Amino acid sequence: MIDAITERATGFKPKVALVLGSGLGDFAADVKPVATIPYAALPGFPKTSVESHAGKLVLGHVGPTPVAVLQGRGHYYENGKADVMAGAIRAMAELGCETLFQTNAAGSLRMDMPPGSLMAISDHINFTGVNPLFGTVRGRFVDMIGAYDPELLKKLLAVAKDEDVLCHQGVYIWFSGPSFETPAEIRAARVLGADAVGMSTAPETILARHAGMKVVGLSLMTNYAAGLGGDTLGHEQTLAVAREASGKVCRVLRAFVERY
Ligand code: HPA
Repeated sequence: MIDAITERATGFKPKVALVLGSGLGDFAADVKPVATIPYAALPGFPKTSVESHAGKLVLGHVGPTPVAVLQGRGHYYENGKADVMAGAIRAMAELGCETLFQTNAAGSLRMDMPPGSLMAISDHINFTGVNPLFGTVRGRFVDMIGAYDPELLKKLLAVAKDEDVLCHQGVYIWFSGPSFETPAEIRAARVLGADAVGMSTAPETILARHAGMKVVGLSLMTNYAAGLGGDTLGHEQTLAVAREASGKVCRVLRAFVERY
């Protein structure tokens, strides 16, 4: 399964895998590369159809830390397959990654987290009715308590503080997309305890926990969620805000990974 990776980076053993979300691909430039491999060359990796997602695996170092950067992810909404990232996540575990660091662009359900704010993910809600482990037998009853590793969460918040970057923490709710949520859905999500909403991340967390990896997550608020900001919603805004805040996000990621 991972031969296509190991033959391009012999002996390389990453410790941390990172998933770069919409508009957050810049972090790949912070990696001193050992190998860069397009997903198309990797069996089981997604064929990404979102233009802002590059679809490349970058292996290399950030400071002293060996990393594997997944620049771009597949989403459930692309083909209705919740396990679209299963091959990629399992490959990261097989390569030796202890931790999966997920990033994403999200809508904010909190007025104290305007567009441009960062939120460390403390937990998630998956009420989509689907699960990436459908059809899996071995180990499928995955414990999701502490899925977002409490120690790594603390470390992320400490690193952000050291970097002088304000970082909130909260609960991420996964909606299937690709349409944005309705204002009524967002009011319901708020009652359920969500702080941020997005179309990714939760399935990869489930897959990573199933594969024995720790997970840490960081959301960038690119808009107020439907009905909270008054404006219309669109992918262009997601990209524009993400691009603008990308420097701040990269700084936190770099500091976290260097000190890992
Ligand atoms: N909803 C879902 N996904 C998103 C949003 C949103 O408001 N913003 C960025 N990704």
